[in-house]
Amino acid sequence: GVARSEIETQVVLNPSIAKDSPKVVDTVEVSGLEKPVTAYCRCWRSGTFPLCDGTHVKHNKATGDNVGPLVLKK
Ligand code: FES
Repeated sequence: GVARSEIETQVVLNPSIAKDSPKVVDTVEVSGLEKPVTAYCRCWRSGTFPLCDGTHVKHNKATGDNVGPLVLKK
């Protein structure tokens, strides 16, 4: 059978939001941030969680999903 960890990494996380887009990225402008841009992971696969490290690309390719980070920008 298929290993549980294999199933867990092949799950589509986004069933319905903006599925016509290859990657859903939302940007929020926030004043008082230390850095000009910070990307927060929404795929739960990042090696630097809660920050995005680009692993969503691999997840999207493996599952057909289209998740991307939440970007905070000042
Ligand atoms: Fe998870 Fe980028 S690594 S959204």
